[in-house]
Amino acid sequence: MHSIGKILIDEQTLMKRISEMGEEITRDYQGKELVVIGILKGAVMFLADLVKQIKLPLIIDFMAVSSYGRSTHSSGVVRILKDLDEEIEGKDVLIVEDIVDTGLTLNYLADNLLSRNPKSLKICCCLDKPSKRRSPVKVDYVGFTIPDKFVVGYGLDYAEKYRNLPCIRVLDDDNIE
Ligand code: IMP
Ligand code: MG
Repeated sequence: MHSIGKILIDEQTLMKRISEMGEEITRDYQGKELVVIGILKGAVMFLADLVKQIKLPLIIDFMAVSSYGRSTHSSGVVRILKDLDEEIEGKDVLIVEDIVDTGLTLNYLADNLLSRNPKSLKICCCLDKPSKRRSPVKVDYVGFTIPDKFVVGYGLDYAEKYRNLPCIRVLDDDNIE
């Protein structure tokens, strides 16, 4: 068995930042009807920790979109694999995503959700990799800005592996096929 790669963000640092983000979101959405939309599967860990720090009544829904498959590069093709269970018309919607890289996924999702006429739409990402951006996206809440490295853990996968790591690690090149 080979090693995975070095720790980029440890568990304690993740939790501290997520609690700050939760406080900020709590302040921004006072008195609003918040719908938190998690993007499967990568955002699951981040969403679970984040919503515990949002001290407001809210609804959680999920969407699943196609991702990179087994490659570490974006195909640029986005496909909805699972749509929302509830309507979002007139609601204050917050998309929760694991990472924004090229921006193609979030750009597509934001357009798609805006066409359903929410009252407002904002985006919250655990990680931002701005160096690879191809499609402009306004991310309203960013956990950490990271360098252009392929990372795994805390929900993020490589070929569906490593999602259960409690911290964010850089994937070593010898693990990439
Ligand atoms: P984008 O469309 O290029 O912004 O990519 C967004 C999606 O690609 C994310 O939701 C992740 O699933 C995946 N992704 C991008 N960078 C990484 C990475 O470093 N590790 C794991 N998944 C990534
Ligand atoms: Mg993903």
